[in-house]
Amino acid sequence: MLKHKYVLDPWSIIENQYDSSNMIDSESIFSLGNGKIGQRGNFEEDFSNNQTIGNYISGIYYRDKTKVGWWKKGYPEYFAKMVNCPNWNKIRISINNTLLDLNKCEVLSYNRELNMKEGWCERKVLLKNDKSEKIEIQSKKFISIKRENLGVINYKIKVFENNVKVEVLPCIDVNIRNNDSNWNEPFLETIESLSKNNLGIVKSNIINSNFEISTFFKTEYLINNKKINSSYSQSESKHLIGCKSKFLLNTDDELTIFKVGGYVNSNDSNKNEFNNIIEKESENALKTGFNELCKENIDEWSKVWEHSDVIIEGDIKSQQAIRFNIFHLNQTFNGNDPKLNIGPKGFTGEKYGGVTYWDTEAFCVPFYLGTKHSSVAKNLLNQRYNQLDNAIKNAKNIGLNHGAALYPMVTVNGEECHNEWEITFEEIHRNAAIAQAIKKYINFTNDHNFLDDEGIKILIAISRFWKERVNYSKVLNKYVILGVTGPNEYENNVDNNWYTNYSAKWCLDYTINQLSEIGNRNVKKHESIIKENNLNNKEISNWKKIIKNIHLPYSKDLNIFIQNDGFLNKDLQPANKIPHNQRPINQNWSWDRILRSPYIKQADVLQGFYFFEDHFTKKELQSNFDFYEQFTVHESSLSACVHSVLASSINDIEKAYEYFVRASRLDLDDYNKEIKQGLHITSMGGSWMSIVEGFAGVRVSNGKLSLNTKIPNNWESYSFKLNVKNRKLSVLITKQETKIKLLQGKEIDIILNNTEITINQ
Ligand code: BGC
Repeated sequence: MLKHKYVLDPWSIIENQYDSSNMIDSESIFSLGNGKIGQRGNFEEDFSNNQTIGNYISGIYYRDKTKVGWWKKGYPEYFAKMVNCPNWNKIRISINNTLLDLNKCEVLSYNRELNMKEGWCERKVLLKNDKSEKIEIQSKKFISIKRENLGVINYKIKVFENNVKVEVLPCIDVNIRNNDSNWNEPFLETIESLSKNNLGIVKSNIINSNFEISTFFKTEYLINNKKINSSYSQSESKHLIGCKSKFLLNTDDELTIFKVGGYVNSNDSNKNEFNNIIEKESENALKTGFNELCKENIDEWSKVWEHSDVIIEGDIKSQQAIRFNIFHLNQTFNGNDPKLNIGPKGFTGEKYGGVTYWDTEAFCVPFYLGTKHSSVAKNLLNQRYNQLDNAIKNAKNIGLNHGAALYPMVTVNGEECHNEWEITFEEIHRNAAIAQAIKKYINFTNDHNFLDDEGIKILIAISRFWKERVNYSKVLNKYVILGVTGPNEYENNVDNNWYTNYSAKWCLDYTINQLSEIGNRNVKKHESIIKENNLNNKEISNWKKIIKNIHLPYSKDLNIFIQNDGFLNKDLQPANKIPHNQRPINQNWSWDRILRSPYIKQADVLQGFYFFEDHFTKKELQSNFDFYEQFTVHESSLSACVHSVLASSINDIEKAYEYFVRASRLDLDDYNKEIKQGLHITSMGGSWMSIVEGFAGVRVSNGKLSLNTKIPNNWESYSFKLNVKNRKLSVLITKQETKIKLLQGKEIDIILNNTEITINQ
């Protein structure tokens, strides 16, 4: 049985074992954020073992010049990477002239708790330093939801002897670099720094960009809970910006360092106003006091949970996991700022640059649609709309014209920006995920205005891309799509990836249908769309030809769609034949071996069955599921959730549950042995999908909401809320029944387990 590293608890993640060499993993788990700023769970004091200090601001990025062996025309110029900012979290402490460093102490007891209900993290450590002096430290911190620029730390030091000299340096550490840098260059430079008494400010410029940020902190000291004045002297370290204070403590005295800090940035505020904002916000926070700030934040979190909690009775492992996922999704993105998006690792790690992937549309939009106001998902889609011109440029760059738009696989402002061609750029399937998100948004919200004014333009441009990207094969007498990578990144530059080809066909078909839907609803609007987009019958009939005649590789013998040309030539040994010590294969096998193996990184054909489920029979789903599952190694976080939803569809609840646990506990139980790199934030939306779309079978199609409910064996019940069609519903599913209540909005007809019912209270 898998041993869980963190204590099982419905609302908290608790670490009660201290392992000095392994803190880097827990730093990811204990990350904090508020959708705008965030940080890894670093200790405040010095720590000389493995760690990755990380503080990030959403939307603030560096253009890291692309690094490839041999430059070829069409490669993206740069990889956009969020910047690891100066660390305001730091507090250097020395006790009787010895630097406090847990790595050099004997830790007598250790407990760290991430309280997800209330949004704070607390660490309590009892230790003996190398002079055998006993000390207790306790640090409680959070990033404020209400005060978006601000984090708060209450750090306590208790001593057990008389005349203990404690020296404290709350500061900003400017000696921070991004770990994931192509050329080992710094991403920012200090413009000015200031430290005066209890205040520190560092103004930095993000190199080669217009972004400026200011990192700041302000502190207050208390002894035995009474505010005290202290004297200050400048830090001697060039990279630690702040002032030192000295204290003499006696037995049982407790010194508290109340530190507020964070960032202001030029995306939100005028550079000339930085200092005023800092002064106002930090002063106000100090006046408010730690307890009040914490209470204010707890109130904000209770509002978040009110809408997005999923309650599972009977299985604490699942309960903890789904809350961990929902908590981190909310820490990463709250939808308040239409400029921001969701990086695959949020603020918890630098891999993937912290910018936008197809993950947003395919795995996060459903969660935000279901749990937040519809404007949040709309903002995400509007970002793509606002980047349409760049997507058209992107297609032009690879020689595709006539209004074709290729959305970037990785982007922050609509420009394609990453390092790798075969993996990433060739994944043109991303265009379809955007169209899918539009479909889901329209189905969930009935927002026809968005379809008419923005959505349809995106759909037309995407359809034009597929038209330009296919070519006619005289050999097959079919349209083909060559040289792509499907969602399975363990095979590159393949021809006729079934998922990509099917998605192309669907996009064309959906666009035509939406055009006629608009025509039926509003003839004038339809005419203006046709005119504005220069659409004519010839173009549409070309699309129809492709729809009818695109190559969809299929094996009659196996009764499956073939992942791509040549897939069946592989040595088709199931993944359970791979020795345990060679998993994950991406950490153990050569790239060559992976590429020629039949092993599938993540759902590929099955991703298609997820999106296009209603185009196929359950029998077709079952045979494709059975065939592809055996080769799938789930080395992408985005895999298990899709398998879970599909397993629910074919009524294999045991399997659906296994995949749900794998998806939702991926980070807590570190399935892929990579947790130190950060959490898999975007796939956390997939964990929610596994419950809501999987077990509860929520769908909106043909204008109607339907549920097809199931419940894992070991759950007594589960419940969640859902925003759909301008209503808010609550859904409770037990082994015996499903109860749906209308919390907000007009009565609604739905289909529950194949029976039509009206929900009116
Ligand atoms: C997956 C991609 C995904 C990316 C970012 C990769 O490992 O294969 O599908 O977009 O991670 O999450």
